[in-house]
Amino acid sequence: MVAQRAHLIHPGRFPVPSGHVTYVVGIIGAGQLARMMHQASIGLGIQVKLLAEAADSSAAQVVADVEVGDYTDPETVRRFAAACDVVTFDHEHVPTAILEELAADGIAVRPGPKALVHAQDKAVMRSRLGAMGIPCPLNRPVATPEELTSFGAEVGWPVIAKTTRGGYDGKGVFKIDSADRAGEPFASGADILAEEYIDFRRELSALVVRSPSGQAVAYPITETVQTAGICTETTTPAPELSEDQAIGCQQLALRIAHELEVTGVLAVELMQRNDGSVVVNELAMRPHNTGHWSIDGAHTSQFENHLRAVLDLPLGSPTVRDEWTVMVNVLGGSVQDLPAALLHCFARDPRLRAQLYGKEVKPGRKVGHVTAYGDDLPSVRRRARHAANYLMGVGDE
Ligand SMILES: Nc1ncnc2c1ncn2[C@@H]1O[C@H](COP(=O)(O)OP(=O)(O)OP(=O)(O)O)[C@@H](O)[C@H]1O
Ligand SMILES: [Mg+2]
Repeated sequence: MVAQRAHLIHPGRFPVPSGHVTYVVGIIGAGQLARMMHQASIGLGIQVKLLAEAADSSAAQVVADVEVGDYTDPETVRRFAAACDVVTFDHEHVPTAILEELAADGIAVRPGPKALVHAQDKAVMRSRLGAMGIPCPLNRPVATPEELTSFGAEVGWPVIAKTTRGGYDGKGVFKIDSADRAGEPFASGADILAEEYIDFRRELSALVVRSPSGQAVAYPITETVQTAGICTETTTPAPELSEDQAIGCQQLALRIAHELEVTGVLAVELMQRNDGSVVVNELAMRPHNTGHWSIDGAHTSQFENHLRAVLDLPLGSPTVRDEWTVMVNVLGGSVQDLPAALLHCFARDPRLRAQLYGKEVKPGRKVGHVTAYGDDLPSVRRRARHAANYLMGVGDE
C-alpha cells in the first residue's frame, strides 16, 4: 500500500465511527472526474478528500471532506496534502514547482511532477516523445508570428498553433491557414508550439494504467470523435482497427507510461492517418473522457483502476463486458431538468446507463454522458446517440 501511515479519519461533514481505519486519497480539483473517482472509492472503503475550486463544484456536492482553496497557492496545497496519504488530480493545472516541493518533502504525489509535466506542457511532451522516437507531428516552439510563418512555409499550410500550457477542450488550439493569420495565437501572450497539420482519418485513444510498483494494464483502443475541440462520442473497441494495429497502440502507450514513470491513468490521444499510421496528439495523466465507457463497458473502470494505482493495489481487468460500448457526452442544451428527462430515456431503453455531473446546464458544457453496450454496433450507437440527443433537447421521442 501507499501508506507509511494509515489515517484514523477525522470527522468530516458526516459522522465516522471512531477507530475506523482507511486511506485518504486527496484529489486536487472537483470536476466530474473527481466525482466519478469518488463513486469508485466508495466500494473500496477509501476516503476521498477534495481541494475544490468552489463549494458547489461537481464533486464537492457529493464528497464529505471538502476544502475550498486555490490550487496555485503553495501553502494551501501543502496544508491539503499533509492531511492525505496520497495526492492525485482531477485536472493538470497545478503548477509543477508546487508539486516538486511536495515530492521533495516525501509526500506521495501520483502521478509525480516529473511525469505530469509531460501532460502539462505540450512543448516538453513533444521534445521527450521525439527523443524516444515516438511518432509525432513535426513541431517547434515559436516565439513570434514571423517564426510561425517560417514554420508554415517549411512544413506547408495550414499549421496548428497551440498554447503549451493550460489548454483544455480545444481552447488554446488554433488552425492557421496562412501567414496573414500568424499573429492570432500570440494575442494572449502564452507560449506557443507550432505543429504540422495532420489530415487525420480519425482520432483514437490508448488508455493504460500503471502503478508505482510497475504493474500496468491496457484498455482496448477507443475511437473518439471531437466536435469543436470537445470529445463528444467514443466507440470501444475502435472499429476497423486490426489486432496488430491495436496492439501497436497499446504497446506505444505502455512504453510511454513506463519510460515517464506515470502512476495512475495515462491517456495517449492519437491521430490516425488514412494510411493507418498513428501519431501522438497529447498525453493526459488522470481519468480521461475517452475512458468513461469503462464504467459500464469494462470489468474495472478507469476510475477504480486509477485509485488502485495511486494506492499501489493490484490493478483490475480492463477487458470489455460486451462486444461494443458507445459513450456519448451530454452537452448543455435546451433541457434544464436532466434527471426528469432521464425518465423518458430509461423507460425507452432499460439497458441505457447514464452519469449526470450535477453541473449547471450551460450551452455546450459537458453536463453528463450516456453509455450503451451490446453486440450490434449500429444499434448500440443509435441508442446512445438518441438518449444523449434527448437530454440535449434534440428530438422529443
Ligand atoms: N497537429 C494537429 N493536426 C490536426 N489536428 C490537430 C492537431 N493537434 C490537435 N488537433 C485537433 O485539435 C484537438 C484538440 O487538441 P489538443 O488535444 O492538443 O487540445 P486540448 O485543448 O489540450 O484538448 P483536450 O480537450 O484533450 O485537453 C485534437 O483532438 C485534434 O482534433
Ligand atoms: Mg486533447
